[in-house]
Amino acid sequence: MAWPEEIAIVGAGYMGRGIAEVFALHGAHCVLADLTAERAASAAELLLGEAARHEHDGLTPDGSSAELRSRIRSAHSIEDAVGGADYVVEAVFENRATKTDVLRRIEGSLSRDAVISSNTSAISIRTLSEGLDNPARFLGAHWFNPPQFVPGVELIPCPQTAAGVLDAVEALLTRAGKTPARVADSPGFVGNRLQYALFQEAAAVVEEGIASAESVDQIVRSTFGFRLPIFGPFAIADMAGLDVYGGAYQVLVEGFPDRFAVPAALRELVESGSYGAKTGSGFVIRSEAQAAAMAARRDRAYVALGRVVDEFERDEAPANPAAPGRDR
Ligand SMILES: NC(=O)c1ccc[n+]([C@@H]2O[C@H](COP(=O)([O-])OP(=O)(O)OC[C@H]3O[C@@H](n4cnc5c(N)ncnc54)[C@H](O)[C@@H]3O)[C@@H](O)[C@H]2O)c1
Repeated sequence: MAWPEEIAIVGAGYMGRGIAEVFALHGAHCVLADLTAERAASAAELLLGEAARHEHDGLTPDGSSAELRSRIRSAHSIEDAVGGADYVVEAVFENRATKTDVLRRIEGSLSRDAVISSNTSAISIRTLSEGLDNPARFLGAHWFNPPQFVPGVELIPCPQTAAGVLDAVEALLTRAGKTPARVADSPGFVGNRLQYALFQEAAAVVEEGIASAESVDQIVRSTFGFRLPIFGPFAIADMAGLDVYGGAYQVLVEGFPDRFAVPAALRELVESGSYGAKTGSGFVIRSEAQAAAMAARRDRAYVALGRVVDEFERDEAPANPAAPGRDR
């Protein structure tokens, strides 16, 4: 699949409209389908209104919303939408039966070489593929909210997805300014599994009376969460020191034996004397020179990030700030 002539978005709700906006901003013609022709038409109008607001707020290039008007149209039905499409994004309700039915309808009217992806948040891609005659051209492409502005997209092949299809969707998303990552089909994929693990502990902290929801949010944003735009958990562990992680883990394992266990990979690295940055070897650090470069990059990035956060908070400060969060 080269850059598609036309992309069909089936399910023109919150995510579908955002995904269509991204592709249209990058020059693709997008056709929206929904439960009825009326819903698809009003989704197209809503999308154009949202795109105008994004342009007005300086989030998208000048003149882009006018260009979108010529690239976005609505269809009478799913069949009408997908007939001329090279690539179809399924973004209907998160319900297995609904998605299975919609995917069958899409496949029934699709040209032989066209590709279908599902934006499901959690339903197994293998399960969804089982309803299709040709699962080789199907995969999961899981965007994050808001799709216009969050860069990452998870790509989840089913067992039959053709390698060329995976490559083509990856290239398409990259060309549309996204940073796709390939992951295996597993509950919650990667992003939601990690996000919900954090939420699980955040909710427990509040339920146990350790801190208020406001304080948890504040701590996450201002401490370890502050690092996350630049470094993922493995780089952070390497920079902290894997021996330090091992020690802290013991405290958590003793405090919450049902929820924490020292990961085997961490234990093995520590036992072999690989402590991350301080020894020049760890999960992602392979040399002392790399560790030094990462530390320098970290410091520059955190100062820059701090300025962005300060500026954003100043601009967004409410006229009458609410009382500060209560710590309990
Ligand atoms: N909202 C999020 O944060 C988010 C993030 C990532 C992925 N997703 C996934 O994206 C998908 C859509 O989520 P959303 O938040 O946009 O939901 P939404 O309710 O805003 O949109 C769903 C759209 O699908 C349409 N629809 C439902 N059944 C249909 C059918 N049979 N034929 C045609 N259209 C149909 C609805 O009318 C609606 O416009 C879901 O699978 C969801 O899990 C959502």
